[in-house]
Amino acid sequence: MAAIDRQTVDHTDLHRLWKAIAIGIGLAVVVMAPALMAAVGILAVVLLCGRMLYRGGDRFIPNLYARDTRSYDKAYGAFIRQSLASLRTKKIAGHTLLWEASRLPAPPVDGAPELVLDLGVWIGWSTRLAAEASGRKVYGFDTFTGLVEDWQIDDQTLIKQGTFSISEPFARQFIRDTGVSLDGGVPTALGRDVEFIQGSTYDTLEPFLTERPGAAIRLFHMDLDTYESCLHALETCKDRFVEGSILVFDEYLVTNGEMRAFYEFQERYGLEWKYRAWGLEIMEMNVHMVASPVKRLWYAFDWISRYWLRGDGRYVWQVLDKRFWRFWLGAPIGDIIFMLGAAGQRKSVSIEITGLGGLQRSRSQPA
Ligand SMILES: C[S@@+](CC[C@H](N)C(=O)[O-])C[C@H]1O[C@@H](n2cnc3c(N)ncnc32)[C@H](O)[C@@H]1O
Repeated sequence: MAAIDRQTVDHTDLHRLWKAIAIGIGLAVVVMAPALMAAVGILAVVLLCGRMLYRGGDRFIPNLYARDTRSYDKAYGAFIRQSLASLRTKKIAGHTLLWEASRLPAPPVDGAPELVLDLGVWIGWSTRLAAEASGRKVYGFDTFTGLVEDWQIDDQTLIKQGTFSISEPFARQFIRDTGVSLDGGVPTALGRDVEFIQGSTYDTLEPFLTERPGAAIRLFHMDLDTYESCLHALETCKDRFVEGSILVFDEYLVTNGEMRAFYEFQERYGLEWKYRAWGLEIMEMNVHMVASPVKRLWYAFDWISRYWLRGDGRYVWQVLDKRFWRFWLGAPIGDIIFMLGAAGQRKSVSIEITGLGGLQRSRSQPA
């Protein structure tokens, strides 16, 4: 198999640009404004003292610092705590999906076919880039008319059903600027080894698998966002998971969404598994696909400023928001550095199935 250039595969220029800006701001404070530096120093000392007194450190999820995880039942609360302890040892700088796709072994020459599934593709770049990174055919599933149910992100934002339709102005702009073309309302492959399957996964996933009997799922990328769609997809695919299957969840750190769905799924079947990586979700890499270098730079600056000034990154500086205090007083120093290093979400996690547990038994039982 041809060697893959991981730098190219990861598409993290936007985050490198942000790091350069952040270092520049830091240097400007040090060199240009001693008074400002003194103020930052005093603030740092106050925060350090506050950190010693603060008791809520492990109760909030990095990136969201939203709902107190003690509001969940004991078993799920323990799962969240163990998950975070494990994930903190698995941080990666790049996009979890592309990191995993570029590490897949070559497909078997003979023997049963293996599937790479991208669930929730929007304008299709996650699918195309996963195909490039893995050297395998990738099947992408989407309604192309947006979410099929409302998506409540913890106790934060409600994203309405129908959001992420590719006919929205935001999507049309990205379609134009990243050179995507549509055929009958479905994005085209643009020369990559991909196939897009249009429709709700509630209707399309099962017939798709029935048409490919015996094919194991090698890589399962979940970006359908909602708890309901995620759990349905896991259940529908359950008999195709094998030891070594990799599951990437784009929004794993949403505790009432993908994490909850996976928690219930693995409990139900006594699945054995381990965490592999915690990195960037895939959405920002759409910026890297903007064809014109000048526009790309503009998009990158726009994205960075939106994220820090108006987006989820506001918890870093909005003192009146509880999340500010949870982050600066409670987050482990390693998390603070990790979070500040990206102008976008770090919610994506990968998991490897290491033992099938009850899924093995359900497979061996006659239908
Ligand atoms: C966040 S977007 C995916 C982003 C994409 N992976 C990317 O890299 O740009 C979520 C997508 O999931 C789709 N979706 C959500 N629930 C679905 C379902 N049950 N069946 C099919 N598509 C669904 C939406 O239409 C939307 O395009």
